[in-house]
Amino acid sequence: MSANTVPTGTGPAGPVSTGVVPTAKPIKTTGLHIGDAEPGCEKIDPILVVDNVRRTFGGLTAVDVDHVEVPRGAITALIGPNGAGKTTLFNLLTGFDKPDSGRWTFDGRSLAGVPAYKVARMGQIRTFQLTKALGLLTVMDNMLLGATGQTGENMFRALMPFLWRNQEEENRAKALDLLTRFKLDTKKDDYAASLSGGQRKLLEMARALMSDPTLVMLDEPMAGVNPALTQSLLDHILNLKSQGMTVLFVEHDMHMVRHIADWVIVMAEGKVVAEGDPHEVMKNPAVIDAYLGQHHDEDIGEDLSAETENVSAIKELLNDER
Ligand SMILES: Nc1ncnc2c1ncn2[C@@H]1O[C@H](COP(=O)(O)OP(=O)(O)OP(=O)(O)O)[C@@H](O)[C@H]1O
Ligand SMILES: [Mg+2]
Repeated sequence: MSANTVPTGTGPAGPVSTGVVPTAKPIKTTGLHIGDAEPGCEKIDPILVVDNVRRTFGGLTAVDVDHVEVPRGAITALIGPNGAGKTTLFNLLTGFDKPDSGRWTFDGRSLAGVPAYKVARMGQIRTFQLTKALGLLTVMDNMLLGATGQTGENMFRALMPFLWRNQEEENRAKALDLLTRFKLDTKKDDYAASLSGGQRKLLEMARALMSDPTLVMLDEPMAGVNPALTQSLLDHILNLKSQGMTVLFVEHDMHMVRHIADWVIVMAEGKVVAEGDPHEVMKNPAVIDAYLGQHHDEDIGEDLSAETENVSAIKELLNDER
């Protein structure tokens, strides 16, 4: 198993692009891999193992991953320029999309062909880049939808309320506890549509925790979140690890990646092009090339926000002050 060590280099020094000041110094998990930190390298205790997963859209190869392993009990960041295939890989691994070919295991069990709801029940849960909170349901109802294995879902049992009432009460209590932790308890009876973008992200994350996941996959959890809420989101992500969960998250903000990630996997044009400790990987020329390549290829007028995201990523990559 991996050893926990306090990093010597991570601190509040350096530019903070999100304006986030860490409340506590994250305890970095080290000793995660075997051999050199290179694309596809073996992990000491992998929770996810992916082999030859490929997804094309017409002539475009969105994902073409030969081999990648995600370490258990750590926070892994999946980074890469816009269009690198990060969300597509998330969709494939969680059963929201089907690959052209490939196989992968979660906790030693094969997940190829397993539908999304079963993947979630097995303990691998994800959130979406564009939040999927159901606006016309209340915050509490959104939470209750996140509970898995509800007895009331079964038709036969649904007819016998005594079988599920207790569970429903337990789920409500659990939801309220999570909502309190995410400071959304006062909103429990409001429609999710009335929440701010950041609060919706918090709701999505809180809902994901209703099913007691083992692996939490977050697709750009900070995107569009007001700086007032980014700190609490960040703390929540760190808490997931301290509660024993594994986290895989997609993020463009390199400062945040450096601050909370134990391991970084870099994708470009569908492939894993680099892996490593956050500080080491950001010095890797292949990573800078991936972002610069994207920068040169793009028409600035086409997608200014994506362009700005990549440019600030490059600046942060080059600005590793530890
Ligand atoms: N449903 C789809 N149909 C056609 N092309 C798609 C589809 N989904 C993704 N793509 C294409 O696949 C490539 C990878 O997209 P993806 O959304 O996975 O990238 P990403 O790394 O998540 O990017 P971003 O950082 O902008 O979120 C892109 O070129 C995208 O346009
Ligand atoms: Mg994406």
